[in-house]
Amino acid sequence: MNRLRKKNIHDLLEKKDVQLKRTLGGFDLIMLGVGAIIGTGIFILPGTVAALHSGPAIIYSFIIAAIVCSFAAMCYSEFASSVPVTGSAYTYSYTVFGEIVAWIVAWALVLEYGLAGASVATGWSAYFVSLLEGFHITIPQALTGPFQPQEGTYVNLPAIIIVLALAFLLTYGMKESARLNKIMVFVKVFVILLFIVVGFFYVRPENWQPFMPYGWNGIFSGAALVFFAYLGFDAVSAAAEEVKNPQKNMPIGIIGSLLVCTGLYIAVSLVLTGMVSYTELNVSDPVSFAMGMVNQNWVAGFISLGAIAGMITVILVLLYGGTRLLFALGRDQLLPRSMSKLNARNTPVFSTWIFAILVAFCAGFIPLSKLAEMANLGTLLAFTIVSIGVLFLRKNNTIPTGGFKVPLFPVIPILSFVLCIFLMMQLSNQTLVASAIWFLIGIIIYFAYGKRHSLMK
Ligand code: ALA
Repeated sequence: MNRLRKKNIHDLLEKKDVQLKRTLGGFDLIMLGVGAIIGTGIFILPGTVAALHSGPAIIYSFIIAAIVCSFAAMCYSEFASSVPVTGSAYTYSYTVFGEIVAWIVAWALVLEYGLAGASVATGWSAYFVSLLEGFHITIPQALTGPFQPQEGTYVNLPAIIIVLALAFLLTYGMKESARLNKIMVFVKVFVILLFIVVGFFYVRPENWQPFMPYGWNGIFSGAALVFFAYLGFDAVSAAAEEVKNPQKNMPIGIIGSLLVCTGLYIAVSLVLTGMVSYTELNVSDPVSFAMGMVNQNWVAGFISLGAIAGMITVILVLLYGGTRLLFALGRDQLLPRSMSKLNARNTPVFSTWIFAILVAFCAGFIPLSKLAEMANLGTLLAFTIVSIGVLFLRKNNTIPTGGFKVPLFPVIPILSFVLCIFLMMQLSNQTLVASAIWFLIGIIIYFAYGKRHSLMK
């Protein structure tokens, strides 16, 4: 009997009954990654984190978070090229550690994709509402925020609508979604480059002094927060089952998209803190705010539009990752089998709608500023398990050879594990307690449903 309920990789690769179509190449994946990664992190976070935590040294926070992510990304890549099956870290854990760990990872990823998607939808709604106001169109305040009667808001209607609209697009098929994603990514990267080029001429180096006003502690807590800016790159690995030649294309997709984003974050942070003193950056739209400060209002307007487009792709890819995860859970019967039902366009339609409705609910009614930290925690937990998993993966001699291998083994997986734990410890106690409750619920569901219905029993 398979006591730990581990999956055999060859069975996974040969299983042909419910398969998605392989339509995506390496470039598609980088686009998917940049689409998933760049969003709130660049359009909203750099201002508040520089103002309250790191100062101009926020670039160090971004670099630290990028190092943690790149180590984890390499571990992800090794798994993704060895086990190119949908479900990301969930599937990897199933083959290496067995079902219960896999379920916990899946539960962590639902937290990540769901809450990150919902909080980006909320950020999108804020930019969208203020853009409409620019055209003198006002949505009643009660419909523009979470359920907080004392603040005069009851439901965030634009956030709900954008989530449901994107879910509709996803049910229409992945190829179409990837096409829209590509256009949006170009728009987003264009406005970011526009900001960097125009802003460069307004940089005053004296704004970079003092460079580290809050010392290294500020830089580390800043790193745990801007970690959110990288969140989403692992969604690329969720696409493994829809990728042509995954051995080559998965590492290109994951590491390539991470490199592109890190470069942009560092450039934007340097220009932003060079244009305006970090003490003035605690605003909700720092990037366009800085352009407004130097009277480049047309550039500021363009940037707001780009932010709106940019956040759409983030929500899209996070929704995509979440629905494919539910698909994998349904296929393995840890959740009801209907989750893995495909429509005529080869899309898991039921899991798409279930996930979208949950995300829309969170985006519509729950204030997410605090919960974004929980999304970070879910991600870091998945990263720690994937990092340590590589050590076990190498010992497993049933794995097909020839795929991507983490360099400097075992140093990088171990460093990745330690750094993820370090960043987790930078998060608040409130987040740790709330997350513990979430995982308790997950474990109850596993023993009440998944363990009894699983295909592996
Ligand atoms: N990385 C994503 C963002 O910054 C979640 O919006």
